[in-house]
Amino acid sequence: MFSKIITDRINFLKIQINIANDNYYLKNNPNISDLEYDLLIAELVKLEEENPEYFSIDSPTQLVGSDITNSFAQVSHKRPMLSLGNTYSREEVLNFDSRVKNILGDENYSYSAELKIDGVAVSIHYEKGKFYQAVTRGNGEEGEEITNNVKTIKSIPLSINNFKVYDYILDDFEIRGEIFIKKNDFYLMNSERELIGEKLFANPRNSASGTLKMLDSTIVASRPLSMFGYYLYSENIELKSHSENLKILKEIGVPTNPHSRVCKSIFEVLDYCDEWENKRDELEYEIDGVVIKIDSLKHQDELGFVSKAPRWAIAYKFSSKKTTTKLKGITFQVGRLGTITPVAELEPILLSGSTIRRATLNNSDFIILKDIRIGDTVVIEKGGDVIPKVSEVVISERNVNSIQFSFPTHCPCHFETLLTRPDGEVNFYCENPDCPSQIKGRISHFSSRAALDIEGLGEKVVDQFVELGLLETYADIYDLESKKKQILELERWGIKSIENLLNGINESKNKPFAKVLFALGIRHVGSTVAKILSYEFGSLNSLIEATFDQLVSTNEIGVKIAESVIRFFSNDTNIKIINRLKESGLNFENEMKKNIDSINSPFFGKTIVLTGTLMHYSREKASALIEEFGGKTSSSVSKKTDLLIVGLDAGSKLIKANSLGVKIITEDVFKNMIEGLKPN
Ligand code: IVH
Repeated sequence: MFSKIITDRINFLKIQINIANDNYYLKNNPNISDLEYDLLIAELVKLEEENPEYFSIDSPTQLVGSDITNSFAQVSHKRPMLSLGNTYSREEVLNFDSRVKNILGDENYSYSAELKIDGVAVSIHYEKGKFYQAVTRGNGEEGEEITNNVKTIKSIPLSINNFKVYDYILDDFEIRGEIFIKKNDFYLMNSERELIGEKLFANPRNSASGTLKMLDSTIVASRPLSMFGYYLYSENIELKSHSENLKILKEIGVPTNPHSRVCKSIFEVLDYCDEWENKRDELEYEIDGVVIKIDSLKHQDELGFVSKAPRWAIAYKFSSKKTTTKLKGITFQVGRLGTITPVAELEPILLSGSTIRRATLNNSDFIILKDIRIGDTVVIEKGGDVIPKVSEVVISERNVNSIQFSFPTHCPCHFETLLTRPDGEVNFYCENPDCPSQIKGRISHFSSRAALDIEGLGEKVVDQFVELGLLETYADIYDLESKKKQILELERWGIKSIENLLNGINESKNKPFAKVLFALGIRHVGSTVAKILSYEFGSLNSLIEATFDQLVSTNEIGVKIAESVIRFFSNDTNIKIINRLKESGLNFENEMKKNIDSINSPFFGKTIVLTGTLMHYSREKASALIEEFGGKTSSSVSKKTDLLIVGLDAGSKLIKANSLGVKIITEDVFKNMIEGLKPN
């Protein structure tokens, strides 16, 4: 970038951030969303890092840092933060109880059973009733001071006024608890991150711990963190029991989990474990087990601890969501790139709320390693993700006559092409481009939501059309209009469904070049790589002409991708198909100016609806700007709408968008975003 452009941009960002700070901190009336604020800060930090000559001490990036701690000091815990021993079975829990009984002898004791929240532990000190310091668990002896970040969690009280426990005022005390992000908030946060092209968090726990370690507390404040307190300690007051402490925490306004239960015996504890192992999916947050604690604090002291874990508490960890069922058969899925994936066909079985009929078997090495045979009883697991997998065989239930499974040598389609396994790869491939499964896969990918999003052309329709010979390549999609009569004769096809399909096909012609490039299905060219290539090379023609060196000298493009791109465009069949797509009117040019970082435009590839009276732009101008930055406007709100921009007196569209959970921003925010994107 030229220095004038950089300084102008830095000045622009500083002004925007200062206005936003003023509105947020002083006027209590934010003018932009937290997400947009984060974007401005991130861009300014990046520009200042890359161009230190333009850095000045009065930059709002420094203000953020000095207002709010931006380095984490190491702090020793006054009392070590112990960890817990884990148990995984009833037997181990009963053994724990026997150890307790051995020490406590004839004394009567009860347990407090609690949900084990899957988050991040924190210790918070209050002095004279005021929130004084928050520290991470760290290594149990020392943690990091994250006071300002934890103070942003609105549900944690900043001060406690004259609260009395047994006639003593509770003013100097420590609470401990688990900070977490609810499942729904986690999904929402990830979809916002996706909107701005940021890396997604793997799970709610990671997102909570990543957030707590952020240097900029203003970003932390925008994240939906929650906490459940599970520990209270005060040097001045002799507290009696854990269950009473939980009540005190609740009374002083510290959120506590509502499902804790005092259990008179270990058997009641085991019932509690069973109950929550079954009900864990009903909760708004993730739990990974139950924490079992001796309730009386006197008993806790008597029991003490060994090395770093107490003798008075233990965790009962839930097993991952597992079950067993019969393996009826193994089929093979052929992916659009010819990858052969073995699929377990199972005796249907219910696992955490859904019926599982099929599960992945990974690859041939996995089947050999685990010696999986048809007719075996297999263990099915559902991890944090949605796809269930076969994890092992229950050998004790194996039929003596079972026969070892051998991976096929040929493709399951009627061509029966010999499969290949490239050196160093775990997968087998069918390299015949005419293989019907690959054809179906390529066309389905082309029309999928992430690619050209053609309404009415889902997987089932693609399969049907390929089988009938109506589609052989994705270029044939644009000839379907001429085959209208033939389609009308098919079962379940009427005028309306055909019109829908043809509309969907027509709309795909307005999709940006990056989407078209992704839709072509070039190996290793995912949606992000397609955006980068479309931005760097600007048009398909330039990309086809790009040399290997040009490709690999592009940021983020490695040898594998470059080779794959060159291979794809050196294939005559691919070029013929592309030429037909060009004739059909698909977009093979990136209209965005190269000096605009279009990949990071929050409008890129999004479907956006405008509603209400706009004050800053005409409708036409707003639509043109959205398109300039890679988005598309649509006149009605549906499930497919990514963003609603509202002007004055917005009505039904706003209500509908809200009920569908569509992201909504005001015109002012839109204007700020647009101005943030425009080079001066
Ligand atoms: S009590 C010695 N209660 O689990 C007592 N911990 O594996 C230790 N955790 O570091 C803590 N929910 O991060 C306790 N209701 C709960 C909990 C809980 C989650 C976490 C905590 C701790 C880890 C121990």
